[in-house]
Amino acid sequence: MSEESSQLTGPDFEKGIRTADVADGAMVQGHAFGEAVLIARRGADFFAIGATCTHYGGPLAKGLMVDCTVRCPWHHARFDLRTGEAIAAPALNDVSCWKIEKRGERIFVTGKIDNKPVRKPAVSPSSVVIVGAGAAGGAAAEMLRRQGYEGRITLIGKDPSLPYDRPNLSKDYLAGNAQEEWIPLRPDDFYREQKIDTITGTEVRTIDTKKSQVTLSDGRSLGYGALLLATGADPVQLAIPGHDLPEVCYLRTLVDCQRIIEKAKNAKRVVIIGDSFIGLEVAWSLRERKLEVAVVGKHSVPLEKVLGRELGSLVKKTHEANGVKFHLGRAAKIEERNVQLDDGTRLDCDFVVAGIGVRPNTALAESAGLATKDGVLVNEFLETNVPGIFAAGDIARWPDPRAGQIRVEHWVVAQRQGQTAARNILAAREPFVVPPFFWSNHFDVHIHYVGHAGADDRPTVSGDVNAKDASVIFQSAKKTTAVASIGRDVENLKAEVALEEGEEFHP
Ligand SMILES: Cc1cc2nc3c(=O)[nH]c(=O)nc-3n(C[C@H](O)[C@H](O)[C@H](O)COP(=O)(O)OP(=O)(O)OC[C@H]3O[C@@H](n4cnc5c(N)ncnc54)[C@H](O)[C@@H]3O)c2cc1C
Ligand code: FES
Repeated sequence: MSEESSQLTGPDFEKGIRTADVADGAMVQGHAFGEAVLIARRGADFFAIGATCTHYGGPLAKGLMVDCTVRCPWHHARFDLRTGEAIAAPALNDVSCWKIEKRGERIFVTGKIDNKPVRKPAVSPSSVVIVGAGAAGGAAAEMLRRQGYEGRITLIGKDPSLPYDRPNLSKDYLAGNAQEEWIPLRPDDFYREQKIDTITGTEVRTIDTKKSQVTLSDGRSLGYGALLLATGADPVQLAIPGHDLPEVCYLRTLVDCQRIIEKAKNAKRVVIIGDSFIGLEVAWSLRERKLEVAVVGKHSVPLEKVLGRELGSLVKKTHEANGVKFHLGRAAKIEERNVQLDDGTRLDCDFVVAGIGVRPNTALAESAGLATKDGVLVNEFLETNVPGIFAAGDIARWPDPRAGQIRVEHWVVAQRQGQTAARNILAAREPFVVPPFFWSNHFDVHIHYVGHAGADDRPTVSGDVNAKDASVIFQSAKKTTAVASIGRDVENLKAEVALEEGEEFHP
């Protein structure tokens, strides 16, 4: 949320603007009745909706209009221009929809309207049980209700909290720049109002696919008409001497994050093991808390495999310029107040955070006999090999139309898969085809990555990486597979459209 929010700028749409001032395909931000409003034009049609993205407040007028939708420049949420509906995560709330009147050569915004469609599902299972109350599970529960499903929904999570903003845990929240109330995705009342039963702090232990029933860690059993597995991933644990010391932390949950924050309050030095996205975001956030931060990693250029050499180097340089010290090597041993590397280097510290990757939580699916292979195998509709059981998020390995069978660990993908799985539970038969998208922040370097590049895909830089104004375009057999951008938000959205349409991307 550190990015600048939309404000009341531009023309007053109550006073009207000339139709000629909104070019075909353009969006203009202004205001009406004290709220930021955007007017978009498609041929002879004009639309007016709220101008501020309901995710983190991104300025929608600076995004990209695609058919009758607008895509947010910050994290690619999508809104329907005709209704204001948030049609694709990470935004979960709609923006307002406004009435437009044309008088002569001018258009006026005359008040709010409710254009939301009333939906009725084609098929309604007797009940839906969702295992995992994280990004995918939470988004699925909401989407079932949005689609008009009236049956029983039970959202079960091992975490004591209802769905929360996990990406924030390595960013503003960890840095101490986010308010507590930003973290839950919804207030508790929301689930009551939506008649979504929630069971927290409870694990699903078994699935009986013959009886269509799950058993919980508190001994209860629950039948289901349809089941969604969204059990996410857990951090890979260190396996070196000292790994079980109380000074060693991991970061996946809110509780994990609060533990790190408590330790940081009384600490001067931290060692981060792992130059992963999470490891480096933690480095940034703990520098914001003025700790001395040392990162131990195996790569001379961190993140090079995903972002390419230039962008990986920029991330490293940016961390170094902000005081993060990198140590190439492996941690060999942890003691109470230090980490020893395999070359004998000893790094003094007050605590350690390990960010060495995650492993998908597939044990439950495996024990139920579902097909798995580094993830739960699903078809394009996100259904497993057992009809009526779906999987979404970090555990799902699905057939991406461009990259083949993939599994990714991205927030937006998990939420969107939850949304698609929900619609397919109601027999929508909607394939999951959107290109994967993730973002990652490192001080003032904000990376947007769309698509999915293989390890051998060739990166080409367009623009000036050091000026933080560039895209890295990945190609395989002369086809664009992914685009990573900094300072080029709209370009990244255009790359998303090109990937969707199977076209080459030319910045
Ligand atoms: C600190 C951090 C920062 C991140 N930052 C970004 C980012 O900037 N951008 C990005 O794209 N991605 C980011 N990610 C990744 C993103 O958060 C994940 O990809 C996403 O949360 C996956 O969603 P999910 O629903 O699959 O799993 P989760 O959100 O992990 O939810 C799974 C839930 O299932 C529960 N569960 C597991 N097993 C059981 C069981 N047997 N019974 C009941 N409940 C169970 C877990 O407790 C958990 O709450 C970040 C991740 C972390 C940890
Ligand atoms: S602010 Fe719009 S998608 Fe995040």
